[in-house]
Amino acid sequence: MLSYRHGFHAGNFADVVKHTLLVAVLDYLGRKDKPLVYIDTHAGAGSYDLGSEFAQKKREYESGIGRLWDVADAPAAVARYLDCIRSTNGGGDLAHYPGSPAIARQLLKPADRLVLFERHGNEAEALRSWAADDRRLTVREEDGFEGCIGLLPPPTRRALLLIDPAYEIKSDYVQVVKTLAAAHRRFATGVYMLWYPVVERARAERMLEALLATGIRRIQRFELGIAADRDGFGMTASGVVVINPPFVLGEQMDAALPWLADQLGEPGEGSFRSETLVGE
Ligand SMILES: C[S@@+](CC[C@H](N)C(=O)[O-])C[C@H]1O[C@@H](n2cnc3c(N)ncnc32)[C@H](O)[C@@H]1O
Repeated sequence: MLSYRHGFHAGNFADVVKHTLLVAVLDYLGRKDKPLVYIDTHAGAGSYDLGSEFAQKKREYESGIGRLWDVADAPAAVARYLDCIRSTNGGGDLAHYPGSPAIARQLLKPADRLVLFERHGNEAEALRSWAADDRRLTVREEDGFEGCIGLLPPPTRRALLLIDPAYEIKSDYVQVVKTLAAAHRRFATGVYMLWYPVVERARAERMLEALLATGIRRIQRFELGIAADRDGFGMTASGVVVINPPFVLGEQMDAALPWLADQLGEPGEGSFRSETLVGE
């Protein structure tokens, strides 16, 4: 029985880097009028109350979004992300944290669509009630790895697919690559984002090697580390791989990641990677 609930972790350092990237990619894709399909293979509950029992258990948000909440001098990509989180909170104190579906819902336009996969019954129910009045949005309570493939290519031939599993089962490290390979075969020009944790460095790197072995091109990786790798004793870094990234993304993250590493890293241990893994 899987027990992962994103409510325990909402707003932690991994969410900060993942959602900073998500905002940057959605902003870029939003520059064109042609409708976009946003597909979230592992959507979570959509939005999180930071006062809830889940969030309060370890208060992970305090060392993530909590540390950035009052800053005024963040690099542009982080400032833009902070605008979204502040807007979720109506300009007041930090009380709610938007998950990826809520961020996408905030940034997408009336003609865009969101398809949210969530296999956990409670989370899917939360998504359905949270999103009931939004006709752009479909919640599918099923396996997102399989379900996303049938949606590609979308009729408008514009899509962003976020793959964000919890890696609670180790086969996820293999499944994410299979899913990306299958999705890319059907729709090579889509934009794909894959989140990964660094709990064991070798496992994360093996997953990336398998991705490179697929032959897919135009791959960038962005990672934020808050402590030196210490295999098996918690998540010390987390990253996002982007396939077909907006051309401005590397530059934006080159400015954002060193700053985030300073703000969120343990003293002297913050680190980052911003690199092209495969070019054109
Ligand atoms: C890391 S959380 C998602 C967080 C969310 N994307 C965000 O950024 O706010 C992963 C979610 O995937 C769900 N899940 C696990 N396996 C799944 C699968 N095969 N298909 C769809 N959802 C799954 C879990 O119940 C959990 O809610």
